[in-house]
Amino acid sequence: MRQIDIFDTTLRDGEQSAGINLNTAEKLEIARQLEKFGATIIEAGFPASSPGDFEAVQRIAGIVKNSTVTGLARAMKSDIETSWEALRGAEQPHLHVFLATSPIHMQYKLKKTPDQVIDIAVEAVKHARKFFPLVQWSAEDASRSNPEFLVRIINRVIAVGATTINIPDTVGYATPAEYGALFKYLKENVTGIDNVKLSAHCHDDLGMAVANTIAAIENGADQIEGTINGIGERAGNAALEEIAVALHIRKDFYGFNTGIHLPEIKRTSQLVSQLTGVMIQPNKAVVGKNAFAHESGIHQDGMLKNRETYEIITPELIGETTAPLALGKHSGRHAFKDRAISMGFELSDEKLNEAFEEFKKLADSKKEITKDDLFILFTDQQIHY
Ligand code: KIV
Ligand code: ZN
Repeated sequence: MRQIDIFDTTLRDGEQSAGINLNTAEKLEIARQLEKFGATIIEAGFPASSPGDFEAVQRIAGIVKNSTVTGLARAMKSDIETSWEALRGAEQPHLHVFLATSPIHMQYKLKKTPDQVIDIAVEAVKHARKFFPLVQWSAEDASRSNPEFLVRIINRVIAVGATTINIPDTVGYATPAEYGALFKYLKENVTGIDNVKLSAHCHDDLGMAVANTIAAIENGADQIEGTINGIGERAGNAALEEIAVALHIRKDFYGFNTGIHLPEIKRTSQLVSQLTGVMIQPNKAVVGKNAFAHESGIHQDGMLKNRETYEIITPELIGETTAPLALGKHSGRHAFKDRAISMGFELSDEKLNEAFEEFKKLADSKKEITKDDLFILFTDQQIHY
């Protein structure tokens, strides 16, 4: 099975979400959990962006031993040197340096010609390699860049020592077929591409970040980038827990291995949600509160007969310990009876029918039937038994 490295950027791109501001202690707690989750690389922050980020990256580099720790830098000597000070204590110092390559970014943001952009990227990677054994170079806005220009600039940064080349879909514009084709084209046209790691980095503006990431893997990406719960700039980044579970559940189809410790997913997701204050939508794949809640009578009946009728992911796989069938107005008698038994109530068929009628009336007037509601209902029937 082909090994895919997981580059987690929850603490850098994730923290760039509007409204998130983590302190150093919170970042350290998340970094420790990301190490347990099995991230190959943890992007701990952007050291040159603020003293707080510098301190957090330095402390994370000092404590995390089982994941490589990296930091982001602009293609500037001062950013690279500041990052070295923050990361020099890491087990395996790694730097992530980026520069935009799309016509719109080069013309309006950088105000540089394509040839000047190549020179700046080459100088930055050369300078970074004086300090760091591992240097990732990102072509910001790669998916809107000219593919031939990408080949030219990537050939040059590889020649001066870049060890990973990242191809971001910075504004979430690509489609899976298009993004996959770009990876195929780079694999076929960049000299020495097989001697470096090729990485995918997707944003979710059109809701295609996970699909785009998987298309990149199918077309030669060795590393994928994303965040826990998909947090990040604007609509966020590719959700790592979704990718890890999709590749695991469909390994029959894909045949890729990520090395992610799947039972750590739920804990990691909850920690990130609690500390960032970003709620997880209830129907979110894998980690949403309803991801394992089967409400309709037909589904619940099927689940009680054989869980595989409607369950392709078990809650246990991701470390979810309790996931009882949700009871609501669509629930059937079978699930209702099962819940009564699991709560320790033994009701005659007649009492069960009466309780079920009461339950249906209550469910019509209330969105969610709580454990307390059920307790009152069952107790009432048992007392009259
Ligand atoms: O989305 C992006 O282009 C980035 C780069 C800094 C890699 O986050
Ligand atoms: Zn990004």
